[in-house]
Amino acid sequence: MVLGTQDSSGIEQSFLWGYFVFLNRDEEADLKGENGEARRISMRVLARLGESLGADKLIPITSAHVVESSYQIACDAGMDLLEKLANLGAKCSVLTTSDPAAIDLENWRELKVSDEYARKQLRLAELLNRLNVVPTFNCTPYADVNVPKFGDNVAWSESNAVVYVNSVYGARTNRYPAFVDLFAAIIGKVPNFGLHLTENRRGRVLVKLDVQDFGDSDSPVLGTYLGLEMGEKIPVLTGFPRNVSATQLKGIGAAGAAAGALAMYHIEGLTPEARTRAEAFQGDKPEETMTVDRTVLARVREKMCTVAGGKVDIVGLGCPHASVFEIGEIVRLLNGRRVKKGIECWVCTSRLSKGLADKMGYSDKLSAAGVRLVCDTCCNDAPMKNWKFKLMATNSGKFARYAPVNVGSDVVFGSTKQCIDAAVKGEFPT
Ligand code: F3S
Repeated sequence: MVLGTQDSSGIEQSFLWGYFVFLNRDEEADLKGENGEARRISMRVLARLGESLGADKLIPITSAHVVESSYQIACDAGMDLLEKLANLGAKCSVLTTSDPAAIDLENWRELKVSDEYARKQLRLAELLNRLNVVPTFNCTPYADVNVPKFGDNVAWSESNAVVYVNSVYGARTNRYPAFVDLFAAIIGKVPNFGLHLTENRRGRVLVKLDVQDFGDSDSPVLGTYLGLEMGEKIPVLTGFPRNVSATQLKGIGAAGAAAGALAMYHIEGLTPEARTRAEAFQGDKPEETMTVDRTVLARVREKMCTVAGGKVDIVGLGCPHASVFEIGEIVRLLNGRRVKKGIECWVCTSRLSKGLADKMGYSDKLSAAGVRLVCDTCCNDAPMKNWKFKLMATNSGKFARYAPVNVGSDVVFGSTKQCIDAAVKGEFPT
């Protein structure tokens, strides 16, 4: 190594410039700080990442989605970094949307959030604005604001969204960590590794679905199964119903990514890189074949619950964030009934979907029924422990996975109808 001058952080400049042989001249200029300190910091992280993963180059991205939008994730150290970047004039150079915050940005006072905590989250939101992040504060940006095309490379970090855009849209992203997503957004590039490479997107395990009447509540269970069983292998699902809904597809990914390392699945004849089984496996044979039937799903469903049922005090719906269609379905299932006094029933959603729900009269109906339409955040991102909930009922595989830690409660998983009934009766039947 040739010793050279040191930059402000003590890193050998000549070492850096010479080492990242995969950088082109423009990227090297970023690394040398010729385009400003914010780009230098960002490029340094991307170059280090690329080097450690053996990337041959950086590739352009069309969008990013960042998770350090939640104070729960960013914490004070992350806020300091965001402030530093904002003060340096950093701007995202591609469409960049934000994952949920840690509070409902408008109605946080109703959710037992302290003034101090809210102040920090609101400040974080201001910093994101200065960085040019679109303030979506939701985890399903793929449904409206941030919709990648087939083959686009993107830098997304929210795990349910990563699975969705890889699998359903055929866009390409790894499960990026917090802040790497932002550095990629600032530079507009990522190292060429992992799921950006065609060969790493091939199916490896054939999963035969042998289930009649596959319903919405089966999706999170199947997703949990995939998360627990696949490791980092990409499954190819066969025998899947043709009329699968977007809600079901997002339910599989959210649960799979929460239960394990799932970042992508193929569905034979349905998802864009699996028009045929041969295409899904890229001409290879499956390394393994598994069958999922009702017995398997029942076993997994049992694992998703810490108790069989009982008196509930929180019903958590809207994970991933509920679409206006799902909100309408909850109104229909309530059918004029009210949530039992003393029970919290939260439907987590984006402010965009809430706006549509307002216009369709759903928000008023939910409010009259005692249901909270919680925006910008969710039962996993908000500080829930102040509530001292004992048992959550949920229709989400991801909430079910995280509730014992983040809510501090027991959890029971069920269909949306079972959860609504539990909210009305105050009890989930054992
Ligand atoms: Fe979204 Fe929160 Fe679930 S971020 S995927 S609603 S845990």
